[in-house]
Amino acid sequence: MLEATAIRKHYKAPGRVVRALDGVSFELGPGQRRGLVGHSGSGKSTLGQVMSLLLKPDAGELSIDGEPVRKWGVSAPRRLRQQVQLIWQSPRLASDPRLRLREMILEPLAASGRLPRDRGARKALLEEWADRVGITPELLERFPHEVSDGQLQRACLARALVLEPAYLVCDEVSSMLDVSTQAAILDVLASVQAERPVGIVLITHDHVLARHWCEDITEIADGQITAYGVPAAVDEEVPVSPATVPGS
Ligand SMILES: Nc1ncnc2c1ncn2[C@@H]1O[C@H](COP(=O)(O)OP(=O)(O)O)[C@@H](O)[C@H]1O
Ligand SMILES: [Mg+2]
Repeated sequence: MLEATAIRKHYKAPGRVVRALDGVSFELGPGQRRGLVGHSGSGKSTLGQVMSLLLKPDAGELSIDGEPVRKWGVSAPRRLRQQVQLIWQSPRLASDPRLRLREMILEPLAASGRLPRDRGARKALLEEWADRVGITPELLERFPHEVSDGQLQRACLARALVLEPAYLVCDEVSSMLDVSTQAAILDVLASVQAERPVGIVLITHDHVLARHWCEDITEIADGQITAYGVPAAVDEEVPVSPATVPGS
């Protein structure tokens, strides 16, 4: 279980404080597909980054399979960081422009010393994931600026999946992409879940998408959880009380 409890994160902006998260709790279990839905600026990406160990909260707790997270960012243990992979909304901002897609996909494995020693095994691993996300061998030789946003997002997905994380945080992964790429990415996520129980939180502003794909939906507004529902009933959302929000 990936468990965030009473997370607070405020940003200091000139002349004011932005209360991006104010006591947010959210949990994600193995194999789950949970939606986190809210308008732009509601705190979704901030929560996604906290849960992915990339951004240290001001207060609150995060634990991964019962182990409390005490450090975030580069100081977090790599073993814990790898358990939760974030797929960013913008694949351009999330990619190193100097790396070919081939290098980009294997880079996290190389950095953690988990790259197969054998050249043939490396190639097979790369080709398997490229094929699964829909990247042709020819695209693997290209740099980010030589591929489309959709192709680059597929490579970012492969880079996250190759680490075999227990949890995936998908932050508007498809909101900037065409409909067929969006569907393809969700299909890849579903196929991975069919093989092993990776927990997925789908962050989106798109209620229809969340209803279609997620088993339940948590709504966030102005840094607070405001509603929770299962898709069939989400039109008549229950106002939040502690008893209805998992993790609180
Ligand atoms: N690095 C930052 N510095 C200052 N304010 C930020 C920063 N990141 C996000 N914010 C602000 O925090 C609030 C929540 O942002 P975010 O988590 O990105 O929301 P969402 O993903 O739902 O659009 C917004 O008001 C946003 O402008
Ligand atoms: Mg966002």
